[in-house]
Parts: sequence; structure tokens; C-alpha cells
Amino acid sequence: MTHFHRRSDVLHVEDVALPVLADQVGTPAYVYSAAAIRSRYTALSEALADLDVSIHYAVKANSNQAVIKLLGGMGAGADVVSAGELARALAAGIPADQIVFAGVGKTKDEIRQAIDADIHLFSVESQPELEAISQVAASVGKSARVALRVNPDVDAKTHAKITTGKAENKFGVEIGFAADFFTRAAALPAVRAVGLSMHIGSQLLDLLPYEAAYTRMADLARDLMRKGHALELLDLGGGLGIEYGADKAPTPKDYADVVRRTVGGLGLKLAIEPGRWMVGAAGLLLTRVVYVKEGSAKRFVIVDGAMNDLIRPTLYEAEHRVELVSGASETAQRPADLVGPICETGDYLARNRDLPLVNAGDLIAFLDAGAYGAVMSSTYNSRPLVPEILVDGAKWAVIRERETVAHLIARDTVPEWLV
Ligand code: LLP
Repeated sequence: MTHFHRRSDVLHVEDVALPVLADQVGTPAYVYSAAAIRSRYTALSEALADLDVSIHYAVKANSNQAVIKLLGGMGAGADVVSAGELARALAAGIPADQIVFAGVGKTKDEIRQAIDADIHLFSVESQPELEAISQVAASVGKSARVALRVNPDVDAKTHAKITTGKAENKFGVEIGFAADFFTRAAALPAVRAVGLSMHIGSQLLDLLPYEAAYTRMADLARDLMRKGHALELLDLGGGLGIEYGADKAPTPKDYADVVRRTVGGLGLKLAIEPGRWMVGAAGLLLTRVVYVKEGSAKRFVIVDGAMNDLIRPTLYEAEHRVELVSGASETAQRPADLVGPICETGDYLARNRDLPLVNAGDLIAFLDAGAYGAVMSSTYNSRPLVPEILVDGAKWAVIRERETVAHLIARDTVPEWLV
């Protein structure tokens, strides 16, 4: 945890002490380390350096302009799944020809925006979508580059809500239909089928599912090329896991070995779409204890952050590490549930964690919250979206302001006939 460390027992992000941020920006707040993001990007790109791979950052993991810009500045392209993400990636300066667009339900309007921008590639997930893309492209006199998203029917061995590569999942087209798809694409006027794509799930801690899926993709690519289809590229998706709690994640080198072994010799350009791996470990949610409640069965530490700010624990049983910002060196530990103020039993950020004595006013950080944290937050219970802060060495900046309740109210309108 080199970018998150203690100095005189106080948790710092790089050279910035968290109590300083809490005092100046308030809590709850997301805090990200720019150096951590840079070092993650560098580790992955270096491990893959001998392969012809482009890295498309999956913007859904953290779509703050500053984060996309930071990664874009290092050479990353973007993987987007909506017109909103496309606009964010373009606004952050990602060149259109480094943007890939996935998702099972792209509307014609979204397709049109992507074609207008001249993006690099659509991952096409169904026959009707292929036809829609051709229609929209033809209507503006262009031709769109598409890759067929194949569902390799491999169990990614991850949480059920984030597994995507089994036949029963809604994503991609079954392998057996691929050849037919390419033949149909060739008959359409305004699409060019240039490759294959896949994504079997997120937070993969085991490389075997990758190995199985990439091997199937390689076999399919060879078969299609033998049948005369001119493939240029293979998009291998994202999903590389990180270490929450006691997890053990594969190293970039181990992952790169799998890529090299399975698809490295096909003579095709490769692409990957990592999201969580780039930013997950680079961020935390900073909260403050409101009350401590001693129950007969349990101790509840009630913090000012809640499930609307970080939904992963309750939605995916995710176990984010918990750190006291100061006072962590105390030896006496007792179990506690760390919960928010929302009126639902599912509103917890961590359960049954051993913590030293904590008091109202103490700061508590939930680690590894840089991916799928802020982007999945909501204003449930009329709780305004929390700010995001980027630290870079001794510098820091608010990269998204805290929303206000006035702003929430201002978005509603009461029809005239009600007043
Ligand atoms: N490419 C495609 C087509 C995807 O659907 C996804 C994630 C990615 C790339 C990036 O996956 P990553 O490298 O971040 O694992 N909200 C969930 C994760 C949902 C992932 C959805 N798709 C969570 O908090 O765990």
C-alpha cells in the first residue's frame, strides 16, 4: 500500500494527510491517488509491452474527467458503454480512434453519435444491432468498424451479478453463430466486420477462465480466417481482479503470459478493456463516525457514508478493507458492523470487522473504492453526491464538487395544476 500509508499513525494518500482533506472538503468524500493510477497503468502496459495490445480503459469504473484524462495522458484509449461515456471520453481528450463501444442495448441515437465521432470499433452483441449499425452508418454515408462480441460460455468464477460469459448471460453471440454473423455482415452495405471481442466478467481472480475463453477465441479466429474472413483484431475485454480483503489477485505478468500463450501468435492486433484494475486500488471512501452504538449482540459504528455512496458491499457482498485514519495502532480489537444512516438493513459498508475503540468524530476509510464507487452512487434518502478528490504528491484538488440539497430539489418540477 505504498501510495496509502501511515505517517505518525495518520493515514496519508501520497503526501496528503486525510484529516486535512476531511477538514477542508468534509466527509464523506472519495479520495484518489494519481500516482497509484499511474503505477497500475504502467505495470499492466509494461507486462504486455512485447505484444501488439492497445489498452482501452473501461470508463464505467470511474468516469471522472480528471481520471480519464490522467489515463489518456499515459496512452490509454477508452471502452465506453453509453453515449454519456462516449461524450465523457471525448471531452477528456481520448482520441475517437482509440474508443471502443460495447453494450447489448445501444440505441440508434447512441450509434449515430459514435459514428459521427468516428470511433474505432463497435462490439456488436446481436444480429439486430448489427443491422441497426449498418442502417445508421449508411444514412450518413459512412461505414462502421465492428467486432462480433462472442459469448465463449466460460464460467468466470466471480460474483453472479458480474459474470457475463456464460450462455445464459445476456451478453454477446454464441460461438456457433459467429461464422454466419460474418457472412451476414459482409452482405450489409455499411459495416466492416474486422474482428472479435469478448468479456467474460469482472473481478476475476483466477486466470483459468481467461485461458479457456482466450483459447476458444483463438480457435474461432483461426477457423474464421480459414473460411476467408479478413480479421484484424481481437478485443479480450476487461475483468482482471484486484485484492479486496484477503483476496489474492493474479499479477500483470501472469495475465500477460496467458494472453501471449493463447492469442499472441495469431498475427492479430489485440485490445484489452481493464477498468477496476486501473483505478480500484487507487481510491478510498473517507467517512466520519457519527455515533457508536453498543448492542447486546453487536457494536455498530454509524458513519456518515452509506450504501448510496458505496453500494458494492450490499450489492456484491464486497469486502472493502477498513482503516481508522488515526488511532489504528491500538491493540484491543472488537468486532463491529460499519453502517450508514440509510433506513435499510442492507445499508452497511462492512460487517463483522475487528476494530479498536472508535468514537464519534473519528475518521474511517474504506479502501479499494476507486472503481465502481462514485460512479455507482445515488442520491437515495436525498443524500447529495459526495465530492471526489485527486491527490498527486503533495498537491490535491477537488475533481467533483459535493452536490447540494438545493441542487437536488431544483431538479424537480411541480406541475402548475398542482399548485
Ligand atoms: N469491458 C466490458 C464489455 C465490460 O462490461 C466491463 C465491465 C469491462 C470491460 C471492465 O471490467 P473490469 O476490468 O472493471 O472488471 N459494478 C461491478 C462491476 C461491473 C463490471 C461491468 N462490466 C462491481 O462493482 O464489481
